[in-house]
Amino acid sequence: MIQLRKVSKQFGARVKAVDAIDLSVRRGEIFGFLGPNGAGKTTTIKMITGILSPDEGDIAVNGYDMRAEPLQAKRSFGFVPDDPNVFPRLKAIEYLRFMGDIYAVPANERKERIAQLAGRLGLDEALTERIQSYSHGMRQKLMIMGALLHDPDLWILDEPMTGLDPRSSFVLKEMMRQQADRGKTVFFSTHVLDVAEKICDRVAVIDRGRILFCGSITEMKHQFRKEGSLESMFLDLVEQVETAGEHV
Ligand SMILES: Nc1ncnc2c1ncn2[C@@H]1O[C@H](COP(=O)(O)OP(=O)(O)O)[C@@H](O)[C@H]1O
Ligand SMILES: [Mg+2]
Repeated sequence: MIQLRKVSKQFGARVKAVDAIDLSVRRGEIFGFLGPNGAGKTTTIKMITGILSPDEGDIAVNGYDMRAEPLQAKRSFGFVPDDPNVFPRLKAIEYLRFMGDIYAVPANERKERIAQLAGRLGLDEALTERIQSYSHGMRQKLMIMGALLHDPDLWILDEPMTGLDPRSSFVLKEMMRQQADRGKTVFFSTHVLDVAEKICDRVAVIDRGRILFCGSITEMKHQFRKEGSLESMFLDLVEQVETAGEHV
């Protein structure tokens, strides 16, 4: 569903935000993209979604090459960015109609999906309000609704749990699981390890623009032969690389 080959992105003369990464996300899985703040997650996601172009490397989404067929590629996924501050003057329902138009969702289907998603996320009462009156969490939920309106085969979400209350976060995780159970695919980033440990089929750990590990949580535990939480493993992973770096 998502294929990255030797993808790099540099900002300015020094910072290599993403450094020659390979990544492969398969159909039907929930894939967690883990890493501390500043690791390169958002930069990678912006390249996967065609917001930034890579300096080097190739990206394919749902079989479409992002460089050669960007429109087909973009039509084939739903994207929830990390910053939900969009179109403050629009009413939420206007934003959803706009998203429905962009993704060519037929009118009757649109109505049904909006009612269903709003009910699920608890936004149904507020849809006629302006986005500027929304809290951060409500904006986040509205972005999720907009991204999922066309029922895409692939969801791409950047730190989707951030700013959500526990109940909404639970609902979103449930929706992600149902999506995967229908044979569809979820790719999301997080710096919160518990979330990944609970719901991901596979994970990749990124730090300083490099992928340190890719595989299942079980494989990760096995590889690092550590009891205890993913958190301590994660910190170990990052530390090992830092220590190795000192000897280079
Ligand atoms: N537009 C930009 N200009 C310069 N540096 C950037 C820009 N965007 C990100 N960076 C830098 O790239 C690195 C990776 O950032 P980012 O991808 O946002 O990490 P994450 O999402 O994992 O927190 C950081 O060092 C960040 O400061
Ligand atoms: Mg980020």
